[in-house]
Amino acid sequence: MDIRVVVEDVARFRGDALVVNLFEGVKAPGGATAAVDGALSGAIRTLIQAGEATGKWGEQTLVHTLGKVPVGRVLVMGLGKKEQFTLDRVRIVSAEAAKRLRKIGARRIGSIVHGAGTGTGTGTSPGAGGFNAAQATQALVEGALLGLYRFTRYKQESEDSRKRIESLTIVERDREKLRGMGEAVRRGRIVAEATNAARDLVNEPGNTLTPTELARRAQAMARGARIRCQVLGPRELRRLAARALLGVARGSQEPPRLIVFHYRRGQRGGPHLGLVGKGITFDSGGISIKPAENMEAMKGDMAGAAAVLAATRAIALLKLPIHVTAVVPATENLPSGTALKPGDILRAMSGKTIEVINTDAEGRLVLADALHYARGRKVSHLVDVATLTGACVVALGTINSGAFTNDQTLLEKVVAAGKAAGEKIWALPMDVEYDELIKSDVAEIKNTGGRKGGAITGAKFLQNFVGDTPWVHLDIAGTFEAEKEKGYLTKGGTGVMVRTLVNLALELLPH
Ligand code: BES
Ligand code: MN
Ligand code: ZN
Repeated sequence: MDIRVVVEDVARFRGDALVVNLFEGVKAPGGATAAVDGALSGAIRTLIQAGEATGKWGEQTLVHTLGKVPVGRVLVMGLGKKEQFTLDRVRIVSAEAAKRLRKIGARRIGSIVHGAGTGTGTGTSPGAGGFNAAQATQALVEGALLGLYRFTRYKQESEDSRKRIESLTIVERDREKLRGMGEAVRRGRIVAEATNAARDLVNEPGNTLTPTELARRAQAMARGARIRCQVLGPRELRRLAARALLGVARGSQEPPRLIVFHYRRGQRGGPHLGLVGKGITFDSGGISIKPAENMEAMKGDMAGAAAVLAATRAIALLKLPIHVTAVVPATENLPSGTALKPGDILRAMSGKTIEVINTDAEGRLVLADALHYARGRKVSHLVDVATLTGACVVALGTINSGAFTNDQTLLEKVVAAGKAAGEKIWALPMDVEYDELIKSDVAEIKNTGGRKGGAITGAKFLQNFVGDTPWVHLDIAGTFEAEKEKGYLTKGGTGVMVRTLVNLALELLPH
């Protein structure tokens, strides 16, 4: 999709459809909507007076212009109450509008920037006058690109799938704002396309997205972004003594991979962000096999890997002055005659011994080695992203990702980064008392702590492998996929944490 910003009177926009907006409770349209209304001889005002256009959140009113303006249709999007308007609502409105217009066959669409209003407010809430134009523009671009995403690789073309929005023109009256908005379009495009790349990986089935193929895709993502991609196979993993990762891989015919992204653009002594993403390309549970129902969702058990790889690519394309090392332990978790068994004891790369109680708690095993490996790369901050526990889904549902930390300062940065991205993150406790639950009689730790506090004991297990490096674990088991389309989320992989991690890199830079 071609996206550009033009300085023009909205009423003169030429194309198939134009998106304007209305806050709830206003008696007459304002700003750019008023300009369009004027050119339409008060059509929008008439709809308001008739009680048909109220500006309520989620409302859409499509107006045919009958030749009064160069554009064929005007879509009036309800923005809801002014004081409830947020930057994330800009993304949602933009996504809903783009999807509606695609459905009616529009190809060239225009939009005003929602919420940029008259003011120059900053932050995630518009305050008195509006957001700053650049933030709102970035959110608009993100919403449109994310909302229009489709995974069509394995589907025959249909009448619907042929419908495509070719161009989005953002129409702005004020020439002063133009420069910042152009930059915002570029940023919005980079992070939204990275999110969609992560979605593609999550949606790809386990038979094509093997560990080997994930590594190949990672190499392709590194290309043209000044990232060095290193891929280690079984031989190198044996040399590194990555016995926890190799242990999980034993049940599968597919060889494991350790995928490492190196992005170096930081100052000496500046932040070095270590990212670790769980890359189980299919999780059957292994010998502790899962029930059949919903097992197909476990093709997405590499969503953490997808997030860290895509985020690193976005950080690199944005040329952020920081060091990033992203580490992905990739393997399948399958049962077989050579598979890991309950009762087995593994010695992880760090030297710590692990009693395997349940082979379905495989994520923490592969992450143990990946976290240790990342620490060895001398990272200053460590964040792992993993579809780790069903318990986290029980605790937080599909709205919040769970966060766990050994460093409150880093946690606050991660939560703030999530907030700016429209990705909710909720911290769960990490008291020392929970460590009791994963003590083993025969090894230093065991890989499950029972049903109680399952998300926390999963995090506690990981904490054994991060030492004193400031670390945040993000459990995305409830948020990595969406059951239904909603706003800018499409059904299937969400690409969650890509935008949060990009914002985190920005947060870590001096500002
Ligand atoms: N990949 C799963 C967790 C998961 C569940 C992710 C649902 C997304 C949706 C993980 O490997 C797993 O099986 N965890 C077990 C851990 C238990 C055996 C301690 C779980 O949550 O049941
Ligand atoms: Mn599992
Ligand atoms: Zn898993």
